[in-house]
Amino acid sequence: MASNPVKITDTTLRDGHQSVMATRLRLEDMVDIAPTMDAAGFDAMEVWGGATFDTTTRFLGEDPWERLRTLRALIPNTPLSMLLRGQSLVGYRNYADDVVDAFVAQSAEAGIDIFRVFDALNDPANVRRAAQAVRGAGKHLQLAICYSVTEEGRLGGRFYNLEYYLSKAKQFEEMGADSICVKDMGGLLAPYDAYELIAALKKTVAVPLQLHSHYTSGMATMTALKAIEAGIDGVDTCCAPLALRTAQPAIEPLVFALRGGDREPQVSLEKVLEIDDYFERVLPKYRRHLESSRLSVIDARVLDHQIPGGMMSNLSSQLREADSIDRLDEVLQEIPRTRRDLGYPPLVTPLSQMTGAQAVNNVLFGRYTMVTGAVQDYVAGKFGTPPGKIAPELRDKILGDSENDRNSHELPPELDAARDAVGHMTTDIEDVLTYALYPSTGMKFLRIKHGLDPMPDEMKEVTSPDNAKSAEGSPAHEESSDRPRSHRARTFSVYVDGERFEVEVEPHSLERGLRIAPAAAPQPNAPAATTSSVTRDSPTPVPQSKQRDAQGATVDSAANEVPITAPIPGVVLRYAVKTGESVNEGDSIVVLEAMKMENTLPSPASGTVKALVADVGATVAKDAVLAVISI
Ligand code: CO
Repeated sequence: MASNPVKITDTTLRDGHQSVMATRLRLEDMVDIAPTMDAAGFDAMEVWGGATFDTTTRFLGEDPWERLRTLRALIPNTPLSMLLRGQSLVGYRNYADDVVDAFVAQSAEAGIDIFRVFDALNDPANVRRAAQAVRGAGKHLQLAICYSVTEEGRLGGRFYNLEYYLSKAKQFEEMGADSICVKDMGGLLAPYDAYELIAALKKTVAVPLQLHSHYTSGMATMTALKAIEAGIDGVDTCCAPLALRTAQPAIEPLVFALRGGDREPQVSLEKVLEIDDYFERVLPKYRRHLESSRLSVIDARVLDHQIPGGMMSNLSSQLREADSIDRLDEVLQEIPRTRRDLGYPPLVTPLSQMTGAQAVNNVLFGRYTMVTGAVQDYVAGKFGTPPGKIAPELRDKILGDSENDRNSHELPPELDAARDAVGHMTTDIEDVLTYALYPSTGMKFLRIKHGLDPMPDEMKEVTSPDNAKSAEGSPAHEESSDRPRSHRARTFSVYVDGERFEVEVEPHSLERGLRIAPAAAPQPNAPAATTSSVTRDSPTPVPQSKQRDAQGATVDSAANEVPITAPIPGVVLRYAVKTGESVNEGDSIVVLEAMKMENTLPSPASGTVKALVADVGATVAKDAVLAVISI
């Protein structure tokens, strides 16, 4: 019996599938294995937070609160943990204190025992309120320090040196942390640096230490071992089917390696192997979300671009949506430059999405031609203080017409307005919070949940690749799920000349009704207009017309009219102008939410606003005409 076993937090149901399968794992595929996981002997299971909240409501049509309550009921013995982004909670901007308080209290009520709270800038001001709320709820407060490196790739250098981490840890301990986590979201922590860092932290703080790392660079298993040698109390691991790649180190080899020693984890290998077998059976149907454009399961360049686990798969799918996946390398090269301009923020949510999305904009449209709302807020100081200096050109450009410089804790209360906005369908605090966090996609989800809108096809369950074969042969039986079948079409993946196509099978015409669309199409944000329909005998996607308005009609642009088109698929959030208004080149015309960011589209010319084409709230395709300017 080990005298000082390493405590294991299993991340399979949260960070594991968030990192390698874009957070798409559905509750229905967790429930059968949850009791086995509960019995495996994990010291904690991370099951919620991070991107779960966003993806369940945005893509899966699933209530995140119900997921948590269900897992709590099925996992009564193992403490459940969640990842909370400080003042940003599980969203991408800072929320008012009343939303923070209510969200933490409700999460605790619904089943969270351990709150891992971090701020992307490691700014204590941004975790203070959430930390108070966690302590107020009587739950375990784990404050996490985001591990980042300056440019040299190692511990040390101008900003992210040993003193930096030791002083953060001391600050967090003084704030009442029950434990402290080193959160290495990019897989940047090298094994010997981990030894140095953890040994020094052990001498500096008294509370237990946890290591959360990602395998991205290939170092994480070695890093975990060195951290264990240095005396770390706990590490995060994942079950093999979702481990490695951009996710956590696998639990299995760690158990083998530590077997018989005094730090052997008290985890049942037998149960873990049962869990592995289960996911090997269940996960293949999610394969299309697996980032598999390369053969390597590691990314040796991560030390340059520092993209964390979940971000890489998002980045690829975002570029694919913009028909620009071929520019991924350019974007990866642009990210360090954008990060330098932003004052070296750690690349973790939301700063990773922000930096990544801005780098995408910089590559696709020219540097800082299209600046996201989040970057505007960041430069205005709304996210806190970065370790380095923001590039003066960027600051001048963005702050030129804005004097906004508010801090998060000065945000006016938001909860009452959220209650009003959803009052016509619900008074449930969980629904109110869903809306408060995600006004646009949250509202769409709540309308579906409360029966005001039907659930879109793309939110329905995934099907297994095995069924794709039967779809091509004799598609008579559906056996992937016990859920009641609706009369809706079903989708399958098929491969034609090595290219993946999504096949929709209409239930009443299984033999003839195959509609094939390019595999990149089934993004819930993309409207039906992007889906090419072809017959089964000629499985070549029909090229889509380049200019459509939001309804799919072609717009004839006269010579003296300039259209403003959506450079990427997204949701029209608002127009900054009215029809008939005169505008100058560069004036803001329309705000498009894409890649989880608000993007302001400028007028390409001076003139008069002739038409605002798309409806506010509409989902538009790439190249959809949003407005027309007469010049
Ligand atoms: Co992580």
